[in-house]
Amino acid sequence: MSRLGTESAFEVLVRARELEARGHDIIHLEIGEPDFPTAPHIVEAAARALQDGWTHYGPPAGLPELREAVAADVSRRRGIPVDPAEVVITPGAKPILFFTILALVEKDDEVLYPNPGFPIYDSMIRFVGGRPVPYSLAEKINFDVDVAEIEGKITRRTRLIILNSPHNPTGGVMSYEQVANLADSLAAPGRQEIFVLSDEIYNRLIYEGEHTSLAQFPGMKERTIILDGFSKAYAMTGWRLGYGVMRADLAQQISLLMTNSNSCTASATQIAGVAALRGDQDCVTHMLEEFRRRRSVMVDGLNAIPGFRCRQPHGAFYAFPNIAGTGRNSRELADALLTQAGVACLAGMGFGKWGDGYLRFSYANSVENIKKALDRIGSWVKKNQ
Ligand SMILES: Cc1ncc(COP(=O)(O)O)c(C=O)c1O
Repeated sequence: MSRLGTESAFEVLVRARELEARGHDIIHLEIGEPDFPTAPHIVEAAARALQDGWTHYGPPAGLPELREAVAADVSRRRGIPVDPAEVVITPGAKPILFFTILALVEKDDEVLYPNPGFPIYDSMIRFVGGRPVPYSLAEKINFDVDVAEIEGKITRRTRLIILNSPHNPTGGVMSYEQVANLADSLAAPGRQEIFVLSDEIYNRLIYEGEHTSLAQFPGMKERTIILDGFSKAYAMTGWRLGYGVMRADLAQQISLLMTNSNSCTASATQIAGVAALRGDQDCVTHMLEEFRRRRSVMVDGLNAIPGFRCRQPHGAFYAFPNIAGTGRNSRELADALLTQAGVACLAGMGFGKWGDGYLRFSYANSVENIKKALDRIGSWVKKNQ
């Protein structure tokens, strides 16, 4: 248990709520969830499902209706054939991460993962006794994945490579060329046994360019586990609904882990998922356009604060400014902004050692609140220079 890590977003949220309970006014830019309500047609589908008796256990791998809808959607969006037997539905996408690492990584196996990156990667690798091998996402190359660095870190013991595009916390998006280069590299002799967990949870939230999945490249689908879900694209974080797409034999094992843990994902929630995938997609487009507007307010505002330097994120809804110019470390600054300026954000250190010197701001909040937060940060920095 001592090897298990955490996600600072939830810790900061708890702290911020405590401060609010004591009368502080806090602007929440810490937690990674759309502030939009779930679209009415999705909510109605779930309400109807409950009334129609979808109140019982279902198959551990998910309802056939939803597995089919996911297979069709993933197939259409990525241009690859996907069979429903290759889909496992889980309560949120996070269990796909947990189960994949549990299923594939043995003691001392090496796992490559992005740093800075989603903290659960490092936590889970350590938890199962694997060896975490971080690869860097450097600001100087626009937080891009350096495929040569990944190649240089592959050894005989490499079992799994974790990709995350669009990326939390940097907002970086892997280009077609980068993914193609990685696919080429993994096709080399001696590398055939390496699996890839491709965390694509933000794939519908891209502002420039298009999403590319490693699974699209020849020979890669069999070795790739796509992680995706409903939390971010359909503003359904609290519903807990996600999925993994992987070869059918692995899907059976992951389903077995579902049988042993959750039994199944809530049935009415899965019916809502079918409505989300098959229904009108305007809710996704509308949210993306609104995020685009907020992104400029956030990035321009951060760049106007002395000591802050922020690149334009290309996907997801996070700004990840370099704050080295303030002369403070990221934890110290995030703490001060929370307690003294009333702005909750996350220290880059919470995303790994190479995240120090940065803060993560979620711009899944209103333009009005973002502007207010920027004013508060600006005034605090001016006062405390
Ligand atoms: C990179 C990344 N992967 C996976 C998840 C998990 O998503 P879910 O809420 O569907 O479990 C998140 C959520 O913050 C995330 O940022």
